[in-house]
Amino acid sequence: MSDSELSSLPFNERYFQDSSSNYHKIRNSALDNPETFWSNIAKELSWFRDWDEVLDWKLPFAKWFTGGKINASFNCLDRYMGSELKNKIAYIWEGENGDKRTLTYLQLFEQVNHFADALLKLGVKKGDRIAFYMPMVPEFPIAILAATRIGVTFTVVFSGFSASALADRINDSQAKLVITSDGGFRRGKILKLKDIVDEALDKTSSVEKVIVLKRADIEINMTENRDVWWHDSIKNTRDFVEPEQLESDHPLYILYTSGTTGKPKGVLHGTGGYLTYVYATTKWVFDIQNDDIYWCPADIGWVTGHSYFIFGPLLQGATSIMYEGAPDYPNPERLWEMIDKYKVSIFYFTPTGIRALMKHGDELPKKHNLNSLRLLGTVGEPINPAAWKWYYDVIGNKKCPIVDTWWQTETGGIMLSASPHLGLVSLKPGSATFPLPGIDADIVDEQGNSMKFGEKGFLVIKKPWPGMFLTLYNDSERYKQVYWEKFPGYYYPGDYAIRDHDGYFWLLGRADEVLNVAGHRLGTIEIEDAMVEHAAVAEAAVAGKPDEIKGESIVVFAILQKGNNPSTKLRVELRNHVRSVLGPVATPEEIYFVNMLPKTRSGKIMRRVVKAVASGKDIGDVTTLEDGASVDEIKRTIDEFRQSVED
Ligand code: WTA
Repeated sequence: MSDSELSSLPFNERYFQDSSSNYHKIRNSALDNPETFWSNIAKELSWFRDWDEVLDWKLPFAKWFTGGKINASFNCLDRYMGSELKNKIAYIWEGENGDKRTLTYLQLFEQVNHFADALLKLGVKKGDRIAFYMPMVPEFPIAILAATRIGVTFTVVFSGFSASALADRINDSQAKLVITSDGGFRRGKILKLKDIVDEALDKTSSVEKVIVLKRADIEINMTENRDVWWHDSIKNTRDFVEPEQLESDHPLYILYTSGTTGKPKGVLHGTGGYLTYVYATTKWVFDIQNDDIYWCPADIGWVTGHSYFIFGPLLQGATSIMYEGAPDYPNPERLWEMIDKYKVSIFYFTPTGIRALMKHGDELPKKHNLNSLRLLGTVGEPINPAAWKWYYDVIGNKKCPIVDTWWQTETGGIMLSASPHLGLVSLKPGSATFPLPGIDADIVDEQGNSMKFGEKGFLVIKKPWPGMFLTLYNDSERYKQVYWEKFPGYYYPGDYAIRDHDGYFWLLGRADEVLNVAGHRLGTIEIEDAMVEHAAVAEAAVAGKPDEIKGESIVVFAILQKGNNPSTKLRVELRNHVRSVLGPVATPEEIYFVNMLPKTRSGKIMRRVVKAVASGKDIGDVTTLEDGASVDEIKRTIDEFRQSVED
């Protein structure tokens, strides 16, 4: 699609498109006076005490709204109790087996209060840490909100991680209590979560209590004086627990994310700034109206689940869908069926998810009425134009704008995206468009100088923003070194980017995944995009392999689209295709046809594994690999991957 075709895309009448839109005016004025801009937004939330200072900036540590007192659960729930909104549905939950539950804001409020009291009775208090290892059931957000109500800092460990990953995170955060369930359903199988918690607790000493929700109804061990059933814990608890009036920078949660080393980083978020930022960005990007049905299928184990499944939508008083299981279970039309059934109007998904479902063709989505959709979003990785176009044509029926949202665990919320709420600009498939208001983003060279349009460089953020993390938990030195040393004074997210002649930002993947082939820099993602542009390729992963002459040479692993067979002829054709798209320097040295790629649960290709396999080296820490997988499964996956490479 050319730029001119794109600027005349016929979106639903709610959105007009105008590149000189209001959006740019607001962006410019926000940057002129960011503190006034952010404080005006913060005023839309409920504070127990006003702040003395909007921003206390001692590079690289930012404190927002200092002196202000606030509570997350109060803002997500209590605020609505005096109005009709209390009877609005907050969550429509569907189990993998088709079970259904709905919770109004009032019901959510009631359950949060009872559970907050249960936590207090079990001896946790303001300032303590607790850990979650839970399936996607309504008790998960209930317990999170309860923790925030009493000022307890929570850390969610994705329920697909192994016992040792869970133990590491419990040890690092010194969590006093763990909340889990007997089991969880995933692709028709039961994941024995409590057994994994028991195993993890053998390697930790901080945990005093474990609360266990009965979900799968399976036999489990309950350790006396330590383990408590959820349904027992809430017996005889109070209807109302006074929300703690917390300092604005009170730690809300720690979320561990993988870095370039094996040791995960504990990203620590505060309360007042974070809530202000997710509140604002949810409004700007998703433009949720009273009658919308919003669905972000991200697991709460990821930051997207924290910011745009829990806090953002609740701060907007939205009705959200919550789904327990896998998107392709029992078949790859599950999501389309649910969009039809619940009349979902806003859908926020991942490029990997889109490509995985696209592989099954158009018939499955076309069997369902997806007409309720009016806005689509993507997150987590760059989206290739072919997947964008399929999402736009087949899922959105050519009437839904797609907001491509760039952000990170560290940023707390969306940083670059179009904004239907503020005024939609013309979209370009694969570009996250522009930085949101108040976000001072630039693209710089190694020396920190701004790049001209069309030149590839490093994305940086030049001013603090309210959603930014406070630090890395227990490791402020690493915080300074990873994010603030490369470009002193600027936040360095570690991504490559380029701006086109219209000023649009294109994110090119992690700068640390960049290859250097004969002195030329190449983002692995660029080569992968070129591969998947070819009709025969469904997915691709690229890694560098040491090369005596060129420094690095390019190795490609590709999954073929249904109906294509591996052959030498196809291999040559693909080599030529990449060469013609990116130039001779990007010609792959080796192309392997494989059946699967090693990925993290959030859909990112596990670079270290691909690279190690490409260059025949050892793999190292793999705790953040593929969904629902134990370490054994991961090892098996890696072996299978190696084997499919050898075949
Ligand atoms: C990548 C996920 C291109 C990027 C919310 C970033 C993206 C990392 C996009 C953060 C996007 C996220 N386009 N790349 N729209 N969104 N990324 O912490 O490399 O799991 O640094 O946060 O994902 O991943 P994280």
